[in-house]
Amino acid sequence: MSAVASAPKGLEGVVAAETEMSFIDGQKGILEYVGIPIGELSSNSTFEETVFLLWNKRLPKQNELDEFTQNLRKRYELPKGMEQRVTSLPKTAEPMHVLRTLVSSLAMYDSDPNANDVDAAQDKALNILGHAPTIVAYFDRHRRGLDLVHPDTSLSFAENFLYMLNGEKPTETMARAFDICMILHADHGLNNSTFTTRVIISTLSDVYSAITGAIGSLRGPLHGGANEGVMKMLNEIPTVDDAEAYIMGKIQRKDKIMGFGHRVYKTKDPRATDLQSLAKKLAEDTGNQELYAKSHIIEQVMERELGAKGIYPNVDFYSATTYHCIGLKLDLFTPMFALSRIGGWAGHMLEQLADNRLYRPKAQYVGAHDQPYVAMSDR
Ligand code: CMC
Repeated sequence: MSAVASAPKGLEGVVAAETEMSFIDGQKGILEYVGIPIGELSSNSTFEETVFLLWNKRLPKQNELDEFTQNLRKRYELPKGMEQRVTSLPKTAEPMHVLRTLVSSLAMYDSDPNANDVDAAQDKALNILGHAPTIVAYFDRHRRGLDLVHPDTSLSFAENFLYMLNGEKPTETMARAFDICMILHADHGLNNSTFTTRVIISTLSDVYSAITGAIGSLRGPLHGGANEGVMKMLNEIPTVDDAEAYIMGKIQRKDKIMGFGHRVYKTKDPRATDLQSLAKKLAEDTGNQELYAKSHIIEQVMERELGAKGIYPNVDFYSATTYHCIGLKLDLFTPMFALSRIGGWAGHMLEQLADNRLYRPKAQYVGAHDQPYVAMSDR
């Protein structure tokens, strides 16, 4: 067997790309976008400004932000024909499957879908970022048998999504909470879906294929799908008093507890810290204190039992309570992650296109050699 350096399973610790977008120190629990601590952005920025930052590697001046925001708002409405596509979907479909399928089909409404020079790719990414919330909101209303609510281009990304979903403008508190969730989920190094984006675009395929693939990756329960797993777990726990025994049972059975653990963080994910304060406040405002209390007990038990192994809450743990308090249905949690992460995927795609080399690692063959071809009748 030839001596080939094998990468660790799951490519743990392997550096497979350079980025100027996010920096993570998993030991100290630090996350920065373009050098700015995530807490600074969640306190002071907006999702639109954060996406500008990730794509341009600097904060915008006011006129640049206004232009970027207007440009995004022009893309809120879907291309002609797409609305009918949404309303012809089975009402039982899962929103992540809907989002993946319809983002893919946007390519068919683009007169030049394969253009992938950096400018064209950025324009298409902006289209997808603008259209994706509309796809999710339209589908949710379609499955509930409600009239579609068309986008309002006077509203921010966060306000407009909640408006299209609920048919009424959100309160300032809810819109800001949702905006913060969007900021916190926008980028995170070479996570699985971002890697997927870079792998696909490295073949010089198209933007739609790259983002469609990323959505498929994100929905897995080990990645963005974990936020739905957290909510299912919280729903399974009858009362706050049952939370400790429930989690101890899972730990003893060696079950994976959703919303905990991370390939990179060996301490509490800084996004979980921000989301925890948000979840606590929203739970108080919306009468969901029980839900927050259950989450808090789970965190305490997990820290006591598995903290020494470096297993702490990740971004998905408190985002579940936050999304529930914002009034989102469980199967919309992972789509919310996707709406935000489109910003990060697109930024990585632009970085990849600017300095592309095809991703093409090797597999170590571990099977047999020199086997006879056995005729069908003799097998
Ligand atoms: N609950 C219980 N034990 C855990 C957990 C958990 N959530 N996560 C890791 N472990 C244990 C695991 O059993 C293993 O123990 P041992 O060494 O005794 O066999 C050890 O920790 C290492 O786990 P691993 O699965 O090899 O670690 P990984 O780096 O491959 O996995 C992970 C990272 C996120 C997939 C994993 O922690 C996990 O499955 N967590 C639950 C799902 C989840 O919350 N995913 C969201 C991740 S953050 C947001 C995102 O990126 O989408």
